[in-house]
Amino acid sequence: MPVRPIVDYPAAVLLTPGDPVVNFDAGLESLAQDMFDTMYDAGGVGLAAQQIGVPLRLFVMDCDGVKLVAANPEIILTDGEQSGEEGCLSVGKVHADLKRPATAVVRAQDIQGETFEREAGGLAARCLLHETDHCDGILFIRHLSPLRRDLVTKRFRKLKNDR
Ligand code: NI
Repeated sequence: MPVRPIVDYPAAVLLTPGDPVVNFDAGLESLAQDMFDTMYDAGGVGLAAQQIGVPLRLFVMDCDGVKLVAANPEIILTDGEQSGEEGCLSVGKVHADLKRPATAVVRAQDIQGETFEREAGGLAARCLLHETDHCDGILFIRHLSPLRRDLVTKRFRKLKNDR
């Protein structure tokens, strides 16, 4: 299964909400497999389809014991607050502190199109929220203050140019 190239910020596909997944077929299954392979290859814990240039509301994750494929995800409940560092495979190795809810419940469809709900806490909750955001065309840096967002994007641009 091929590892696909990861699309970097500020590509338009990352900043645009994905299209709903409607075909739960073999093509979707192989796309999800490629996404897992790409995520593991990059050492990530979650990856959205937009990050490999596919404008669909689909993500995969394998984080803190929560491994799933989520099509058309929605966060239906959040609770509490957690602090911690967050990063994104599309924003290089630049991390930033970001407050997120402590727990989250996602409602989504699995690879066969069956609707499921999954609750997670800690890092896995952060991942659910981060990846669902991707499906809505939102990167984690959008949650930062303008000043910190500037700092992060400048560091990322510098890293990119130094590559
Ligand atoms: Ni990300």
